[in-house]
Amino acid sequence: MLSQKASRIPPFYVMEILERSQELERSGRTIIHLEIGEPDFPTAPHICEAAYNAMKADETKYTHSQGIQELREAVSKNYNSKFNLDLKPNQVIVTSGTSPALLLVFMGLLNPGDEVLMTNPHYACYPNFVDYMDGKAVYVHTAENGFRLEPDAVANRLDQKTKAILINSPSNPTGQLMSSKELQSLSEVVGDIPVISDEIYQGLVYEGEDHTILEYTDNAFVLNGFSKLYAMTGWRLGYLIAPPDFVRPLQKIQQNFFICANSFVQRGGIAALCGPQEYVKEMVATYDKRRRYLLQRLKEIGFVVRNEPSGAYYVLADSREFGQDSLALSRRILEEAGVAVTPGIDFGDGAEGYLRFSYANSIDKISEGMDRLREYFDR
Ligand SMILES: Cc1ncc(COP(=O)(O)O)c(C=O)c1O
Repeated sequence: MLSQKASRIPPFYVMEILERSQELERSGRTIIHLEIGEPDFPTAPHICEAAYNAMKADETKYTHSQGIQELREAVSKNYNSKFNLDLKPNQVIVTSGTSPALLLVFMGLLNPGDEVLMTNPHYACYPNFVDYMDGKAVYVHTAENGFRLEPDAVANRLDQKTKAILINSPSNPTGQLMSSKELQSLSEVVGDIPVISDEIYQGLVYEGEDHTILEYTDNAFVLNGFSKLYAMTGWRLGYLIAPPDFVRPLQKIQQNFFICANSFVQRGGIAALCGPQEYVKEMVATYDKRRRYLLQRLKEIGFVVRNEPSGAYYVLADSREFGQDSLALSRRILEEAGVAVTPGIDFGDGAEGYLRFSYANSIDKISEGMDRLREYFDR
């Protein structure tokens, strides 16, 4: 019999929409993909070459459980130079993506009944990680506040059981970016409670400034990875930056449950961080063009975007004009217009009535998707 925890876990709707669209494609339909948060760019050749060379040189064995030393140095150096910090390579634990890093941090922090505060809407999988570790997700609803996390609202939800505050800036699904002032106030409000900061969209910023929580507090666990900024989703590479006292306990969890991240993939990560960054700048400039274009087209169709996104590659648009039930609406749009989008409900009830559009797709495809939607709703 399936465990209670396994039977409780809800589907990740974006994957269900993707899988259904692939089924439609196999039957001959063309589908415009605006659902998935996956860069349409290939991984840069110098990154692929580094991994390939590592394989050829027989770097196909287990690595140190915390990751190859050069990669840990590259990660800490990258954060230190970008944000003027003094992180040590030993604070870094390399993982097979940001998702295992999330699991590692919750495994390391949560006792049964411990609460983790997070926004609603939030990245779909967050509450499921917490639930699986016998913790409890506690929400701060942000829709009324333009999807911004108010430090005062956090203060109101803190109690004896609060074990951590989970933030995500730039955010999936809202594209909102926390300002320096907001991060500063948040770290003051939470006192001794650690902040877990998912910074996977760091660098994908089009307006405002990029920050890390580590500029404001040392009492933080930072999660990041190569999937988004470096277009490396399939490589499965990420990392956790932890306060020094937590590194050894987390390392032991890593040794037991994951052993280490893939060896040659880590060489690709070193090439990503230490190699040329021009192609990253070009990708960011392209996302920005798409963001502006998509926003304009969505508004023309009748979607409402009250707070424009300034980071990541998502627009969370109010679609109540077209239907209150976001899952039913996204299924209808997929079946009848051939456009795949993610229902807001995937991100919590705070995004019900919304659809998330990803602009990790070409302008031509976005344009075709918007033409189809306009025609569909006009009908
Ligand atoms: C906010 C957020 N965190 C984590 C992840 C997972 O990233 P990874 O591919 O590094 O596991 C995603 C993927 O979409 C995400 O949007």
